[in-house]
Amino acid sequence: MGNEQLPTRRPWIVAVAGASGTPYPAAVIRALLAAGEAVDLVVSRAARLTLLDETGIAFRDAHWQADLAAWLGGGTDLSGVRYWAAGDFAAGPSSGSYPAKGMLVVPATTGAVAGMALGLSKDLLQRAAAVTLKERRPLVVCVREAPLDGVTLRHLVALDEAGAVVLPASPGFYAGGSTAQELVDFVAGRVLDAVGVPHTLYRRWSGELGAARAHPGGGRGA
Ligand SMILES: Cc1cc2nc3c(=O)[nH]c(=O)nc-3n(C[C@H](O)[C@H](O)[C@H](O)COP(=O)(O)O)c2cc1C
Repeated sequence: MGNEQLPTRRPWIVAVAGASGTPYPAAVIRALLAAGEAVDLVVSRAARLTLLDETGIAFRDAHWQADLAAWLGGGTDLSGVRYWAAGDFAAGPSSGSYPAKGMLVVPATTGAVAGMALGLSKDLLQRAAAVTLKERRPLVVCVREAPLDGVTLRHLVALDEAGAVVLPASPGFYAGGSTAQELVDFVAGRVLDAVGVPHTLYRRWSGELGAARAHPGGGRGA
């Protein structure tokens, strides 16, 4: 019965909320595709403002491929990407029966954190997160705000208790990164670490103090 013989595409849902840090999802998407993973992309309405502000790209549903290509930089094969409009509650990720490996919210706003913690499902990002949690799939919440108030901290605890990984967009400097892109890649690499996707985005801690300074650039990607 059914179509068990057909290969099933099982994407990671990458949801971009309207927090500062649009290079983070670009790095995550590039690395997922490089690892051979499929991506279902959701871009919140507010994220269009951050993207416009930080990159000059006006993201359009009808032209998402061209706009995503500009966002990711040239040369990325987008055949593994499927795009869903932010208000589309009929989208695949709205249902638990839609095959997905899990969901990465990169970056997450305090508003998206609240909506996910309370199960509001007021847009596709929040609905897909609710589905991800109820299906017991991995949910990574890469929150970007500073400072954090008590309301958001309580929402983050609620998400942690619900099984999500709360992973602040907070780059570490021990990996030897000196450029903004290297610091972005560190955060993106930690997001992929949280869901076990292999990558070469940053130099892992080796157990040796000062290794990154002693061998600058040498270990990155190893
Ligand atoms: C340029 C810009 C930068 C913003 N940066 C942040 C941020 O870093 N963190 C945050 O929580 N909200 C930030 N916001 C506010 C959110 O976009 C706003 O709260 C919005 O309602 C979030 O909606 P969403 O969660 O559906 O994307 C920013 C807004 C703009 C226009």
